[in-house]
Amino acid sequence: ILSSIDNQALVFVGLMGAGKSVIGKRIANMLGLPFYDSDQEIEKAAQMSIKEIFQIYGEAEFRILEQRIILNLIKKRPLVLATGGGAYMNQDTRQAIHQNGISIWLKVDLDILMQRVSKRPTRPLLQTANPKETMQKLMEQRYPIYAKANLTINSYKESPYSLAKNVIRSLQ
Ligand code: S3P
Repeated sequence: ILSSIDNQALVFVGLMGAGKSVIGKRIANMLGLPFYDSDQEIEKAAQMSIKEIFQIYGEAEFRILEQRIILNLIKKRPLVLATGGGAYMNQDTRQAIHQNGISIWLKVDLDILMQRVSKRPTRPLLQTANPKETMQKLMEQRYPIYAKANLTINSYKESPYSLAKNVIRSLQ
């Protein structure tokens, strides 16, 4: 483990389709750390899919559950955590992330995000008449907050491998 990240939670933030889980998993492998995905942990705890949670309980309830799960997870540091795109918008969650580790924003072009999310069209927030416009609005709302992350990694078209190396280099 790199000494600068000794015992820390490495937390990936950014929009849907940014690659938080793919890159997070790789980094965890490279560093020999456990990997968690907040959406997966929420699904396990609730015994239903994110889509169902939104349908049955609504977004507000989802956000409460999301906060609770992330606050618990990061206590298990050292670890790598991929968060759902809205998690970092919550002030308490953000504070806990900053107290326990390093936040890494994966910043990706709109067109690439749209290409990726259209391959897995299950995200409740994008079930709109114009998902691209919805994503653009989320970008406008969220970028000022994502920018509070400790590290911003601009990701264009490089492979997950070179992106992961880039993240590790930036952590040193
Ligand atoms: C959300 C992103 C999703 C999931 C939920 C809400 C968001 O996670 O948590 O659909 O608010 O951006 P991913 O970023 O992993 O798609």
